[in-house]
Amino acid sequence: MKHFLKVTDFSADEVEVIFQNAAEFKRQGRHTPSLLQRQSWGMLFYKNSTRTRVSFEVGLNELGAHAVILSSGGMQLSRGETVADTARVLSRYLSGLIIRCYDHSLVEEFAASGTIPVVNALTDLTHPCQLYADLFTLAERWTPGDGKADIESLKGRKVAFLGDTACNMANSWILSAAHFGMEISLAGPAEYAPGKPVRDLLKQADLPETFKFTTDAAEAVRGADVVYTDVWVSMGDEDEEATRIAQMQPYAVTAPLMAETAEGAYFMHCLPAHAGQEVSQEVLDSPASIIFDEAENRLHIQKAILAALAGEPR
Ligand code: CP
Ligand code: NVA
Repeated sequence: MKHFLKVTDFSADEVEVIFQNAAEFKRQGRHTPSLLQRQSWGMLFYKNSTRTRVSFEVGLNELGAHAVILSSGGMQLSRGETVADTARVLSRYLSGLIIRCYDHSLVEEFAASGTIPVVNALTDLTHPCQLYADLFTLAERWTPGDGKADIESLKGRKVAFLGDTACNMANSWILSAAHFGMEISLAGPAEYAPGKPVRDLLKQADLPETFKFTTDAAEAVRGADVVYTDVWVSMGDEDEEATRIAQMQPYAVTAPLMAETAEGAYFMHCLPAHAGQEVSQEVLDSPASIIFDEAENRLHIQKAILAALAGEPR
């Protein structure tokens, strides 16, 4: 059974096919073939969401499947039914399960206990659907020819990640850079440097620790092809809000910082953004900013991910 819990769950060759299918879905517009006709997929969300929730529900609908929206609080899970039993029961009804939660071990337990594909729609550890959309968005720009997005176009590009360099998005970028052959420099307060969780992810995937970490924002962005940032206070980190905002001020992405990048560099953010905190409004609105293309591409890439998972024999 194939699951999508981490960016490394598909090889570069498999991602190339996912990119081609996503580009095709994008070209065809909303009238895509019903690859998942009459299937039902569960969507279990323990955290807030706008993009992920809507793009998955729309994507499932466009592929001919029905989305069953599940709230953790409304299920017997919240009254003590085990994850293992829940996964076994849901596997009798559904064709797949999309989960957003806190502890990454929950998606792993659902995947291990059930008999249907599980998709990680964000955990505290990693956010692989966002990464595939981001990489596809860059590949679209870096691949010659209209409507093409080649995974090879990412090779050797330089990414700078600023702010909370231990969050799920930073972890996902570090893992992606190693998996797809990109360079990555991260800058943030030493207290929020990449930690053991991402080192373990690299080790599990048999990938080298090639990322660079610095506390100097200008050093990280110098010559970068992409500058990426995320919120300073992720869902679940609200107790540390004041400290985080105070410590991360030097890592705000501003126009003078963007001037240090390579010619034609892009600014990216998974959204939601807090203008005036991790990024200035000027940068968000600048021609370098491709934030809404990233958001749109969540829909196309997730349809291709769902098609890849549904294609596995069960
Ligand atoms: N980027 C992202 O995952 O957005 P949502 O939290 O709105 O789903
Ligand atoms: N790091 C953020 C990402 C939101 C899409 C969070 O986990 O809240």
